[in-house]
Amino acid sequence: MRRKVMVLATCLGSFILVMFYFNSSLGSDDGQFLRGNWYGKPRRSPLQALYEGIQLDPSSIQAKHQKRRVLLDSACKSYTRKRRVLTSDDLKHLIVDDDHGLLYCYVPKVACTNWKRVMMVLTDQGKYKDPSQIPANEAHVPSNLRLLSEFSTPEINYRLRNYLKFIFVREPFERLVSAYRNKFTRTYNTAFHKRYGTKIIERHRRDPSVEALERGDDVTFEEFLYYLVDPVTQREEPFNEHWERVHSLCHPCIIHYDIVGKYETLEEDAQYLLQLIGVGDSIKFPSSSKTTRTTNGMAAGFFKDIPKFYQRRLFNLYKMDFLLFNYSVPHYLNIH
Ligand SMILES: *[C@@H]1O[C@H](CO)[C@@H](O)[C@H](O)[C@H]1NC(C)=O
Repeated sequence: MRRKVMVLATCLGSFILVMFYFNSSLGSDDGQFLRGNWYGKPRRSPLQALYEGIQLDPSSIQAKHQKRRVLLDSACKSYTRKRRVLTSDDLKHLIVDDDHGLLYCYVPKVACTNWKRVMMVLTDQGKYKDPSQIPANEAHVPSNLRLLSEFSTPEINYRLRNYLKFIFVREPFERLVSAYRNKFTRTYNTAFHKRYGTKIIERHRRDPSVEALERGDDVTFEEFLYYLVDPVTQREEPFNEHWERVHSLCHPCIIHYDIVGKYETLEEDAQYLLQLIGVGDSIKFPSSSKTTRTTNGMAAGFFKDIPKFYQRRLFNLYKMDFLLFNYSVPHYLNIH
């Protein structure tokens, strides 16, 4: 038995990056090394600023974020069984800012375009000054930002230990509805219609028309949900990042995020973070010009006609995101 385990461990070791990093504890040697000399300037790194700035005032924003960290930590302990090691594939959503010491895990449909814009300004050494001036398509050009997966194992470990790691999350079903609306109800998203829509219609619509099969541009929310809960879907390939769970995109139980921002309190959380980075006065988080923020609260309408059976399956699918980030079971859901 032990021999088998050893062999297995050796095999795994050959293609898994072993990355045991310690939680960014205060006063570690690395912290001492960076103190007073961060970015060539005599100031603290954002990570130091965060943990040294903790105040006892329970109504402070620091205390609020501290509570979120504690909640995430205890939810991870309660609901995940084993710690596993990270592979380089797990790090493809982590954007690196070496200038300020930041790691940002981007989650589509949670203000990620704006955060990518901010990360571009932070890392761009002066080419861009104002995030809101950067065109959306440019924010999504892969070469404009560096991902943690591109680094060597020691470089990865160093960054995981010493950088401030942050993530922004959103109520899971609001995010899902937002993804559906954006990818399946907008006429310009033909790539998604072809890639996913045609398949969804073929599998989940009774007697589809030839035209619908061809174009894939009129997927209903219900058909989309059937596709998500169908076990075949994930057996074939991982979910697209727009509807993949945050838990699977960012591994919040393995990577210890220092800041968990929420879409529901985006402005406040963004401002807090920019201040920690030390750019609160020079960089303004782009305000969402459109009505995106008011789309929160749309999910109830979309779930109204979904059969109970599928509501329950869908909730189970996204359950970890609800639990880890303290979102309560939606009142409209019919799962008992
Ligand atoms: C979790 O959510 C509940 C209910 O919305 C809230 O009262 C509580 O303060 C939240 N806890 C944290 C740590 O955010």
